[in-house]
Amino acid sequence: MPVKSATAPRAAQELSVKPASKNARVVPAKPGSPPNAVPDSTTWSRGSVLSVTSLTPKTVSEILSLAGELEQQDPLERARRLAKRKIALLFYESSTRTRTSFELAAKGLGADTTLVSSLSSSIEKGETLKDTGLTLRALGAEAIILRHPSSGAPWLLERETRLPVLNAGDGMHEHPSQALLDLRTMLNHLRPGTTTVAADTLAGVNVVITGDILHSRVARSNMLLLPKLGARVILCGPPPLLPDLAADIPGVEIERDFPRALAQAQIVMMLRIQAERLAGLQLDLEQYKAKYQLTEALLAAHAPQAILLHPGPIIRGLELTGEVADGPQSRILEQVHNGVAIRMALVYRALTLPEREVRA
Ligand code: MLT
Repeated sequence: MPVKSATAPRAAQELSVKPASKNARVVPAKPGSPPNAVPDSTTWSRGSVLSVTSLTPKTVSEILSLAGELEQQDPLERARRLAKRKIALLFYESSTRTRTSFELAAKGLGADTTLVSSLSSSIEKGETLKDTGLTLRALGAEAIILRHPSSGAPWLLERETRLPVLNAGDGMHEHPSQALLDLRTMLNHLRPGTTTVAADTLAGVNVVITGDILHSRVARSNMLLLPKLGARVILCGPPPLLPDLAADIPGVEIERDFPRALAQAQIVMMLRIQAERLAGLQLDLEQYKAKYQLTEALLAAHAPQAILLHPGPIIRGLELTGEVADGPQSRILEQVHNGVAIRMALVYRALTLPEREVRA
């Protein structure tokens, strides 16, 4: 269930990963040094984003402002920002939105990208994450965007490669860039024009997240980020998909009655059931739909002013109806659109933030 702190999650320890210290970030080899050279272990980049827990309101504001600036910039000028820099996308799980938007973001800044996915690489032959990462570094990658089924894998990759790593989803743990693009979408609706956030920016805002919370890295990143900005996060779902201890996170509550939860929402975020992570758990889908499916009637009756978010992929007819997904309250495609700007900011930071000294 949800982890509370910034350190790497339990599964990372199971992988024998010693989590990097909270602020420790590493930098790529200096330009001109041989590609295999191990960088100085006492200099670390600040450009990795592994978890939202290390993001302060000030850092979130910097990312939101940079996203806006990059989005507005003339595309030709923007493409000079990271011209010919090299970024690897390392995806061990399938992805449509996250992979494509990271790739378009990096390319929009002029970087060269290469995609390595588990089905078309030596990963299939049993190569470890460490060796794949070192190989990418030797090929000249200056940052790696990683999606991996094991919670904590980005910490291992960062530690072994000493490259900036952007977590594009690690198991059931976190999906920081999704939470940031969700935040941008919420702010566009609730506080248009706001890019500077503080501990009270979302005071009075209730975000209702409904569905398979247990397996959702999107839910976890949102419930760890939004309360830092003053929002109240209300989780809704049946006990097997939403254990009681989720409410131990500060700023997070549970309301199992869906209409009662909706009635409090300015933001309604729906999640799909992550069938690939259910591990034998049997769910009665008809019963689930009867209690938790978002329909036009429910929205109209309990949350007529709220906006609807969903990280995708959406399963029409399961967690929500097609009418609701396509309806006037839906901001699902706006979320997708915001993903490119947020990821441009993250990629740009990964390659440009100055390194700093850290004592081992
Ligand atoms: C994820 O990668 O976690 C997705 O964006 C959400 C999902 O798979 O349901």
